[in-house]
Amino acid sequence: MSLAPGNGPVQITQEQLQARISELGHKIRADYAGKEPHLICVLNGAFLFHADLVRTLHMPCTIDFLQASSYGDAKQSSGEVKLVKDLQFPISDRHVILVEDIVDTGITMNYLLHYLQGRGPASLKVAALLSKPSRRKVEVPVEYLGFTIPDAFVYGYGLDRAQFDRNLPFITSQE
Ligand code: IMP
Repeated sequence: MSLAPGNGPVQITQEQLQARISELGHKIRADYAGKEPHLICVLNGAFLFHADLVRTLHMPCTIDFLQASSYGDAKQSSGEVKLVKDLQFPISDRHVILVEDIVDTGITMNYLLHYLQGRGPASLKVAALLSKPSRRKVEVPVEYLGFTIPDAFVYGYGLDRAQFDRNLPFITSQE
C-alpha cells in the first residue's frame, strides 16, 4: 500500500477537506443554535470526519458511535446490513446527526436511519462527507454533504482500501 495519492478522478486535498468541514460546522451551528446536538459516528470510515466536524462546532454537543457492516473487505455492498456495534447512549428526545463517510448505494444509510428513527429522537439528520449519487439504489436525505463525487472507489481520510490507507490525510482514488 502506498502513502501517495492515486491517479484517479477523485482527489480532495487536506486543505479542501478542512475548509469544507468548517463550512458544514458553521451551518450545523446555526441550524442547531440553542440545542445540544448528538453526533453519532458511523465506524470505521467516518472516524476522522466526525472528529474534525465536532471540533468545528464550538457549541455544547455529545457524541456516540455505531458500526454497521455490509462490505467486509469487498468493494461492493453485499446489500445486507448488520449492526456490529450498537449505541452506548439513548437518543430519545435528542437532536441526532448521523455522521457517515460516504453514501454509495444508500443501503447502509437507509438501514441506519430506520434503526435510529425507531429509538425516538427529537430529530434526525445526516452529515456525509462524500456522496456518489450515480450509484444510488435507495434515496436517502443528506442534510450536510461535503462533496459529490463520480463513481470511483475512493480511499484515505478514514476510508479504507482493504482496511489500509485510512490514515491518509487526503482523499484519493485510482484509475
Ligand atoms: P452503501 O450502503 O452502498 O451506501 O455503502 C456505504 C458504505 O460503503 C460506506 O460507509 C463505506 O464504508 C463503503 N464505501 C462505499 N463506497 C466506498 C468507496 O469508494 N471507498 C471506501 N468505502 C466505500
